[in-house]
Amino acid sequence: MKKIGVLTSGGDGPGLNPCIRAVVRKALHYDMEVIGIKRGFSGLIDHEVIALDSRLVGGGIIGRGGTMLGTSRCAEFQTRKGQREAIRTLNEEGVEGLVIIGGDGSLHGAKILHDAGVKVVGVPASIDNDICGTDIAIGVDTALNTVMEAIDRIKDTASSHNRAFLVETMGRNSGYLALVAGIIGGAEMVCIPEVPFELDTVTKTLVDGYLRGKSHCIISVAEGARYNAKAIAEYLESQREETGFEVRMTILGYIQRGGSPTAFDRLLATRLGAAAVDMLHEGKSGIVVGLIGSKITATPLAEVAAKRKELDRNLYELGEILAL
Ligand code: F6P
Repeated sequence: MKKIGVLTSGGDGPGLNPCIRAVVRKALHYDMEVIGIKRGFSGLIDHEVIALDSRLVGGGIIGRGGTMLGTSRCAEFQTRKGQREAIRTLNEEGVEGLVIIGGDGSLHGAKILHDAGVKVVGVPASIDNDICGTDIAIGVDTALNTVMEAIDRIKDTASSHNRAFLVETMGRNSGYLALVAGIIGGAEMVCIPEVPFELDTVTKTLVDGYLRGKSHCIISVAEGARYNAKAIAEYLESQREETGFEVRMTILGYIQRGGSPTAFDRLLATRLGAAAVDMLHEGKSGIVVGLIGSKITATPLAEVAAKRKELDRNLYELGEILAL
């Protein structure tokens, strides 16, 4: 293989830049040319590409959040016309293999290209950690550290004022961020999409905590939970007399997607980016590289696209036990 392309697609997250850097430098190691496709599948359709060399991925991008290539959520790629234009760009550029870095939507896009005969390797990157074929996706560790720090800070105010705080995390339909942040941040309760709950259970948690002498109550709420933070806050406000706590809410939002990648994310992104190029170099395609246990793995794209990542129930139960 003489020439490959790389693109980042979907929501950005910390670790995309070190991954691009690893793709480029590992490809150069194999004497391959590399082009970067700008703005994800949109740039592939609109033929926006840039030749990448070692210097262009240097200068400290390993430590920068976001993506130097830009990204997009591209509805046009869902159409036959969009897919045709994308493949045409690859052919015109003489690209023989493509590394697609992104979340589940992007990996579905990767599968479409693979099914159309393009040699593709996917790299899982999403703060939601909802992608099969890897224990952890690029960006999750940094996002978790951001949420953990936010919870630690909020706890200071919560304890000082005897307040209950609802802290809402991103994650779409996945409760991973809220669950793990709840555990490592010492939350009293975690509300996630995978575990249905009633509003009066939240009241009960607050009352129990108050009676046990707690000076604060932190509830980690995933944005996709049955009731989001706003709905829970409104309900709890109406229960003020009963709970003993004043209620406040913090929606963490996009601060979870930005920032310099942690050491863990830089290493993960570097290993997965390099592994994706190794796969193409070995003539493999239609796979997603991942980290399972401590090993770099390759899982068929079809399997990754078809499966939903299950929540670790043991982790959820551990969270409940430790929230006493
Ligand atoms: O998939 C990453 C994510 O940040 C989700 O947690 C969130 O629901 C979504 O992207 C928001 O997407 P957008 O920035 O496109 O609105």
